Amino acid sequence: MKESQKTISFANEISQGIPEELPSPKKPDENLSHAPKRKDILGKEDKKLALKNALRYFPTHFHEVLAPEFAEELNAYGRIYMYRFMPEHDLFARHIDEYPHRSKQAAGIMMMIQNNLDPAVAQHPQELITYGGNGAVFQNWAQYRLVMKYLSEMTDEQTLVMYSGHPLGLFPSHKDAPRVVVTNGMMIPNYSKQDDWERFNALGVTQYGQMTAGSYMYIGPQGIVHGTTITVLNAGRMIDNGAGSMASKLFVTAGLGGMSGAQPKAGNIAGCVSITAEINPKAAYKRLEQGWCDEVISDLEELVDKATKSVKTEEPRAYAYLGNVVDLWEYLADKNIKVDLGSDQTSLHNPWSGGYYPAGLSLEESNEMMASEPDRFKEKVQESLRRHVEAINKLAGQGMYFFDYGNAFLLESSRAGAEILEEDGSFKYPSYVQDIMGPMCFDYGFGPFRWVCSSNDPKDLRETDKIAAEVLEEIKKQSPIEIQQQMADNIHWIKQAEKNQMVVGSQARILYADAEGRMKIAAAFNEAIRTGRISAPVILGRDHHDVSGTDSPFRETANIYDGSQFTADMAVQNFVGDSFRGATWISLHNGGGVGWGEVINGGFGMMLDGTDESDRRLRSMLHWDVNNGIARRSWARNEPAVFAIKRAMEEEPRLKVTLPTIADDDLINRSFRD
Ligand SMILES: NC(=O)c1ccc[n+]([C@@H]2O[C@H](COP(=O)([O-])OP(=O)(O)OC[C@H]3O[C@@H](n4cnc5c(N)ncnc54)[C@H](O)[C@@H]3O)[C@@H](O)[C@H]2O)c1
Repeated sequence: MKESQKTISFANEISQGIPEELPSPKKPDENLSHAPKRKDILGKEDKKLALKNALRYFPTHFHEVLAPEFAEELNAYGRIYMYRFMPEHDLFARHIDEYPHRSKQAAGIMMMIQNNLDPAVAQHPQELITYGGNGAVFQNWAQYRLVMKYLSEMTDEQTLVMYSGHPLGLFPSHKDAPRVVVTNGMMIPNYSKQDDWERFNALGVTQYGQMTAGSYMYIGPQGIVHGTTITVLNAGRMIDNGAGSMASKLFVTAGLGGMSGAQPKAGNIAGCVSITAEINPKAAYKRLEQGWCDEVISDLEELVDKATKSVKTEEPRAYAYLGNVVDLWEYLADKNIKVDLGSDQTSLHNPWSGGYYPAGLSLEESNEMMASEPDRFKEKVQESLRRHVEAINKLAGQGMYFFDYGNAFLLESSRAGAEILEEDGSFKYPSYVQDIMGPMCFDYGFGPFRWVCSSNDPKDLRETDKIAAEVLEEIKKQSPIEIQQQMADNIHWIKQAEKNQMVVGSQARILYADAEGRMKIAAAFNEAIRTGRISAPVILGRDHHDVSGTDSPFRETANIYDGSQFTADMAVQNFVGDSFRGATWISLHNGGGVGWGEVINGGFGMMLDGTDESDRRLRSMLHWDVNNGIARRSWARNEPAVFAIKRAMEEEPRLKVTLPTIADDDLINRSFRD
């Protein structure tokens, strides 16, 4: 239905919140991808509690109708999504001025929320899941409606408090405070196991916010393309010390979902030949339509034949294999095909609820079994992982460089008893953060800075691209040799960005930058808004997968070797520190990336509106948001970080960081001789 044919205007429906009259019932749209049925984990008494919890959003006179309907949803889907309350308006990022508002900052946040739920962007939009299978913006549609209403009426003297998708309410604050404070999945540590998420999410009291899903900062698969390009490019440079062209290399991986869909695009930008396996035809064809892969093939012989020809002729091309990745790896291993780079981005952070589809079962059979026979399904996943690793081990033995791509592949394979461990108990393969992202990017402060043009106008995005390139070129002239390659790669990236057509949803851009780059680019945007070169506010943010935002021992902090990779002080300090230095909204999450209980991560959003206040806030907050993590990495004795934090102290005399003294290893060893 077109907007104009609808019975209620967009602005009225937003301001309405929970409607006074019960809307007619709605069913999930069959043309969209839907979350798999969740495990039936609640007993009868808990189901009653979940229902009672859901009904507290509505007046009593709705309850007679809603109680049996919600009970049915809980039985049918394992969750109460409240489909009846899906709005009439379409969800997508509009121009900021189209949102009814009293606070411009709040209008910017509404735009970001709608982008996260746009069916062109979100993985399971009607279950309010943006990516990663369970990365939720809200738990149900009542929460969406209430949040949009609160945002439409709040002023710059109030802060909206969000508990895992639930709006606790508007609280008085002040204009320099964040407009929204989000926490997702914060649990008492002993209640943070996978089944705890199933139970407490089914009860309606917590949610898995992933990283940028529950913090309204997702910008489609583009958000990860730059990082993936950096990883693939540097992995390619590493394997033959820079010799041999990228186009003569074959990269094999899996997943064409929310984030993983970036892999074929990154492969093309890096200039290699890639095969990405995807079991779900909806995901595969969505990426084909969006131009993120070049061809979808389900016949293994035809696929491998074409891919090896592309390698021979050195023509970068992104093939998608429609099928199970284990079948692909076993075929490649059987035929002794030379694979140069290998990885995996199935959603193994969520192995038992649809993140990983085991070999030997169809997509539908898996979806059925994970709900009806969860124990048997778990055995199938673990058996599949053992086969998966066996084929990878064979090809790695023939020279393939395999790396974990931050999806808990190594961790879950080890738990499944696959041959993935060395004798000393360490993993056979590195995480991409250990070899590439950590020492090359995070330790120097480079991370996935991003921005969104709130006019939603491609012309504004083009201007921001130009400004960012100019700023980086200027900085590069004075950059030390240690970061020259990165600066060159990032300038190349931003100059090619428009041509690579990565926008899905809002007019957004990702660009790896360090603290200096982020602050100078942001200041230049603010100036351009002031002078009218950019027509409307720009919203800054970043992926949580960054220098300071995330404590995750097998991913973002995998290259921390002083034992502190299992602590979460950095991410929590970052969230708190961003809040009082000027962020427009902040978020802190349990889970995200590698799984519930395995990581604490946070992020921010900051609106630039061309004012002096924006100027002050951006300088104060972006400086902390990067240097917090560099200081911690430096304390962990990471040499690039020691270099970077010393440089930062020279530039900002108010920064005084505790530096590590490096003890002599001989002395340490002698001290514990038998
Ligand atoms: N490295 C990073 O920077 C980074 C960033 C974000 C996410 N991640 C992680 O990567 C993983 C993927 O994220 P996503 O957002 O793309 O998740 P997603 O669930 O949207 O996509 C995963 C895709 O893998 C497919 N799949 C699952 N099992 C398969 C199998 N056996 N064979 C073929 N296809 C299979 C699914 O159908 C799905 O489309 C997550 O674990 C996420 O946490 C890593």
